[in-house]
Amino acid sequence: MKFFLDTANLDQIKAAHDMGLLDGVTTNPSLVAKEGKDFKTLVNEICKITAGPVSAEVVSTECEAMVREARDLRKIASNVVVKLPTTAEGIKALKICSTEGISINMTLVFQPIQALIVAKVGAAFCSPFIGRLDDVGEDGMQLIRDIRLIYDNYGFPTQLLAASLRHPMHVVEAAKIGADIGTMPYDVFQKLWKHPLTDIGLERFLSDWKKTGAKP
Ligand code: E4P
Repeated sequence: MKFFLDTANLDQIKAAHDMGLLDGVTTNPSLVAKEGKDFKTLVNEICKITAGPVSAEVVSTECEAMVREARDLRKIASNVVVKLPTTAEGIKALKICSTEGISINMTLVFQPIQALIVAKVGAAFCSPFIGRLDDVGEDGMQLIRDIRLIYDNYGFPTQLLAASLRHPMHVVEAAKIGADIGTMPYDVFQKLWKHPLTDIGLERFLSDWKKTGAKP
């Protein structure tokens, strides 16, 4: 399973990259707004840190304008992936962009049929939002199971990008199901290797070692 960071924060992206755990980045307009920087400059900076796919989302809602934005974003770097919303206009834009060879991540996917549709039209990535479904009392992880089954039934090459992951168990469950990618905020990423027994165990090893008087 590939790990993407769901952030536009350069320090966080660099930290994950330095650990050798960063396979790509997803951003969205809310995450970009938080950084208070020029959008295209920021995307360019992210692309300098990672060679993996970096999703940058359009903010237009009409097909023609979305395609214009997509062509523009694509020029920033060769690893830019354009994010389009899964609306009728977004799907039309997906059709045009995928024909032009622009790699597209279809976002805001909340039901299996949306995932089937975007795969049929040529999305490179499909982003179902797990946490947001859980928030409204639905089973977000079931959506990942359903999409995995559908994509495998037909051999779609679209990558299943489990998004809106809120805690490490979301990452584990998505990996067990076979999501191609999990994108997570930095606070979730930092919890992935944490276990109290690891910390307690290390503390004990070190204090026992200290008693020997030996140098490290
Ligand atoms: C995905 O690409 C989205 O940016 C993201 O995962 C949304 O997550 P949230 O529901 O935590 O905002």
